[in-house]
Parts: sequence; structure tokens; C-alpha cells
Amino acid sequence: MERTFAIIKPDAVAAGHSGHIIAMIEEAGFRILAMRSQHLTRAVAEGFYAVHKGKGFFDELIEFMTEAPVILLSLERDNAVAQWREVMGATNPESAAPGTVRKLYGASIGRNASHGSDSVENAAIELNWFFRGSELG
Ligand code: RTP
Ligand code: MG
Repeated sequence: MERTFAIIKPDAVAAGHSGHIIAMIEEAGFRILAMRSQHLTRAVAEGFYAVHKGKGFFDELIEFMTEAPVILLSLERDNAVAQWREVMGATNPESAAPGTVRKLYGASIGRNASHGSDSVENAAIELNWFFRGSELG
């Protein structure tokens, strides 16, 4: 079993797509270990995306991630990191495969409906950034 960290981003939550995205997560065989809604502050969003600081899209990314509440999830299944990225589809919705979260609900490379950790190591870091040990089981 492996864990990954997922965010249903502000665009998808505000548009009322979180219910379907959670259903997609369950249908893909993930167990939801922890989940909550949170309106990210600038400090939290900047800390989470610190790796992208200095890139051209950073300010736009922080504006977007703080504009409305998100849903934070801890997910578990075999090969969870890669499997969730598969369900999400490519970063740019234009290139995402049909039926993926980003193809269905992403509007652009920036406003792309969901986040998924890119490695097991980063999943652990990201889960610890957002959840207390007692919530992670
Ligand atoms: P994420 O971290 O959100 O799961 O997405 P990712 O791995 O597929 O993409 P990453 O390169 O880590 O980029 C993080 C997020 O930054 C926004 N972005 N905007 N305007 C742009 O060119 C651009 N590039 C990236 C997206 O919201 C992307 O998911
Ligand atoms: Mg990433």
C-alpha cells in the first residue's frame, strides 16, 4: 500500500465538481484516509508550492490556490502516487486523456482542477504539511 496527497483545487470546488471527483477517486480504488475543506492562506499556499517560487507562473498559482476553499485528501492504494496522477490526467487539460479529472474540469494549465504528489517522498512531505499525525492513521 502507498499513500498520496490530493487537492481538489478552488476552480473545481467552486464549480460544484468535488462530489464527482471524490466518486472518481473511490471508483479508482482509493481509500480516503483523511479529508477536509480549507481556504488556504497565502502563507500556506506559498509554503506548499515553495518548489515553484521564482517561476513565471508562481504569483498566478498562489492567487488561484487562495481564491476559494479547496478539499485536501489523503489517499491510499497500491501505486497510489502514479495511479492518482493517471486519474488526474496531464497538467495541461488540453493534453489530458479523455475522462480524466483535468480533461473534464480543468480550464487551462494553471486552472487545472486538481493536485497530486509527484513522488512517494513528496507525498509524505505534503501529507505532513496539511494533516496532523493523528489524522493520518
Ligand atoms: P500539481 O503539482 O498541482 O499536481 O501539478 P503538476 O505536478 O501536474 O504540475 P507542476 O509542474 O507541479 O505545477 C504545479 C501547478 O502550477 C500551475 N502551473 N501553471 N501557467 C503555467 O504555465 C503553469 N504551469 C504550472 C498548475 O496549477 C500546476 O498544476
Ligand atoms: Mg507538481
